[in-house]
Amino acid sequence: MIPRYPNVTVLGAGTMGAQLACLLAGAGSRVTLLDIDATIAKAGLDRAAALRPSPLYTPRDLARIRTGGLDELPTAVAACDWVIEAIVERLEPKQELLARVDDALPPDGTGPIVTTNTSGLSVTSLAEGRSDAFRRRFFGTHFFNPPRYTRLLELVPQAETDPTVMADVERFASLLLGKGVVVARDMPAFIANRLGVHGLLTVLRLAAELGVGPDEVDELTGELIGRPKSATFRTLDLVGIDVALAVAEHCHEALGEGEREAFEPPPILRQLVASGRIGSKAGAGFYRREPDGEILTLDLETGEYRPRRRVSSRVVETARAETDLAHRLGILLQGGDPASELVRRALTSELRYAAKVAPELADDAWSVDAAMRWGFGWQWGPLETIDELRDGATDLLDGEARALLPSGYRLDGRTWSFRSAAPVALPAAPGAFDLPVARTAAREKQLPSNPAASVVELPEGILGVELHGKLNVIGLDALDLVHRAVTLAAKRYDGLVIGTDAADFSVGANLALLLIEAEDGEWDELDRAVRRFQGVTSELRYAPVPVVVAPRGRTLGGGTELVLAAGRAQPLAETYIGLVEAGVGLIPGGGGSTAMARRAAASVPEGVQADLFPAFQHVITTIGTARVATSAVEARTLWLLTEADQVTANPDRQWTDAARTARTMADGGYRAPARLPIPVLGRRGIAAAEALTYNQLSGRQISEHDRKIVLELARVVSGGEVAEGTAVGEQYLLDLERDAFLRLLGERLTRDRIRHTLKTGKPLRN
Ligand code: NAI
Repeated sequence: MIPRYPNVTVLGAGTMGAQLACLLAGAGSRVTLLDIDATIAKAGLDRAAALRPSPLYTPRDLARIRTGGLDELPTAVAACDWVIEAIVERLEPKQELLARVDDALPPDGTGPIVTTNTSGLSVTSLAEGRSDAFRRRFFGTHFFNPPRYTRLLELVPQAETDPTVMADVERFASLLLGKGVVVARDMPAFIANRLGVHGLLTVLRLAAELGVGPDEVDELTGELIGRPKSATFRTLDLVGIDVALAVAEHCHEALGEGEREAFEPPPILRQLVASGRIGSKAGAGFYRREPDGEILTLDLETGEYRPRRRVSSRVVETARAETDLAHRLGILLQGGDPASELVRRALTSELRYAAKVAPELADDAWSVDAAMRWGFGWQWGPLETIDELRDGATDLLDGEARALLPSGYRLDGRTWSFRSAAPVALPAAPGAFDLPVARTAAREKQLPSNPAASVVELPEGILGVELHGKLNVIGLDALDLVHRAVTLAAKRYDGLVIGTDAADFSVGANLALLLIEAEDGEWDELDRAVRRFQGVTSELRYAPVPVVVAPRGRTLGGGTELVLAAGRAQPLAETYIGLVEAGVGLIPGGGGSTAMARRAAASVPEGVQADLFPAFQHVITTIGTARVATSAVEARTLWLLTEADQVTANPDRQWTDAARTARTMADGGYRAPARLPIPVLGRRGIAAAEALTYNQLSGRQISEHDRKIVLELARVVSGGEVAEGTAVGEQYLLDLERDAFLRLLGERLTRDRIRHTLKTGKPLRN
């Protein structure tokens, strides 16, 4: 049975507690959020709700959260299924509060489970003195900040934790919260913070020693070595220098001689905290944003902020040109100049430490690596890195560390166990789809493939298209592959899924190509390309088998048009979807404007006499202002997704869930929709858009060009100069849409917008 926790009590409404309340409310639980008194709890929740990016999938989730004071603790605990403690990181207050929770547990042993969100205090110590019943249902659930967006959840059992109780939370967190769950041993700072903070401190020390600035260090320790862009110092600013200092101090205090020295906080950390410069949340840390937007860097020697410097290093240049991470690391490790020296010494120290302490932190190698990938965004965990560099890595590790990893990490679906002599199976991620295996099988079967996309076979008799081009830009090659996949699916499969393994489903159509052809006046060519896009989205809509599109991450412009075309979507909870064409001076031209006109019309059920105008206005606003939903749930309110589109929380499950949705639709006797005429607003819609944009223009809220775009859009969605209520043919709307798209592309101001966006990634207001 899938465990659910319909009622959750969160104790402590600070940074973590309030955001955890939001996360659990988003998963459907009713949450009681308690702090010292009701006012503090309410203020904590208000602060969280105002955070951007938001911890809430939708503000509506706030209706499931109630705030209150600790006087409500006994009733809340007795009535709930899960208590999460998230108060200050100090042993005594936590112990005291947990004793009160213990007292409130029902005597028959049926009470809620109790977990602590401590980032590194001993879970065993927190359980001391508690009742047997309490200890059986008590363990650590270490969420990371921000809990909605950081994938990692460390579960930390103590000796008496009932494994079935913890397995339930593991399942729930993986399925409903989308977390990557790792079981950590009850050691100071657990896995990710222990290794992560060790690494950050090591680099900090090396930076001071070698005289390399934070900005230069971040250039060296970020994407270049398979770490997130925020690298070292920006990560410290984001995590909070106070938080990092606390972890360092705790490890320094709790660890033994020989190990604790590495955690001694460098003086600069204390100085920054003492002066309130604790990072992004305070506006200053290792970086400071100036009022004009410039970002200055802290000079580690003088303590003053200075303009940004860039690394100049031949070795780094050579490494940067390599796409393969192992090659890049190999080049950097061979070194030859001061910049690569920092990388070499940092990596050596990190890997050596990880190899040495891994067996104390987890039961197997996989858990250690997964914690670093999910918690700190490393491309490879430390033990994987050693494995990838195996031949070259031997001189990175001293004998002691090397002896701990006698054989490779990648053991064909198994991992190195620190507890038994034999390798153990990787924890089964329920519902995870093995895409690499499917890719190999597809190659053997010679299924269609090109640089933008490939066809793969999914479970349950469903065919898949994997988008895998650069940012999954949708050009003619991707469209061609989708077309071939629809044909193939119609012949030999029961459904089709379009998805990706990349973080983003698609950033949209190929703007660079549109721009070049428009500048060259290749209008026939462009007309054919837009017809092609419309043709493929029509094929998706009218395919004889169900088509499910699986958006995730950024799903923009043309990517959204694929979603709108399909019968059904299977989005990830973290989907940022929008028709953003207006930002580049266009309107959706691949069938998206027509699809939204259809959704507007469909919002008024057949046989109901109701005004189409509000629906029309909603669509014009959504597209005209290039709105992007901040979650799949929010996208429903923009009509980019519907209530029928089930949301998947865990990225590993998305292919499986989408294939199952297609299967279920097929088994339900799926029939393609009929090609029905679409009722439109006609002249009334155009006139309304003219009046509205006239006012906005007079009030200088929009530019002349903005107005032109909205009017073109309104003409399409209104079905042109026809009478209100006329039902127009779909092809007629698609023709209007294509003409408007091409007309806008003929505008110089539109091309200026496209050029600007291609160059800067940002919209141009002109
Ligand atoms: P915080 O300082 O933002 O909030 C703590 C809250 O607990 C405050 O609202 C405070 O009024 C309340 N509180 C203090 N003593 C209390 C008591 N005796 N009874 C009831 N409420 C009390 O702290 P934050 O950052 O939210 O941390 C909470 C826990 O989560 C800590 O154990 C921390 O180590 C852990 N954590 C923090 C992360 C972070 O990045 N901030 C990340 C992961 C875990």
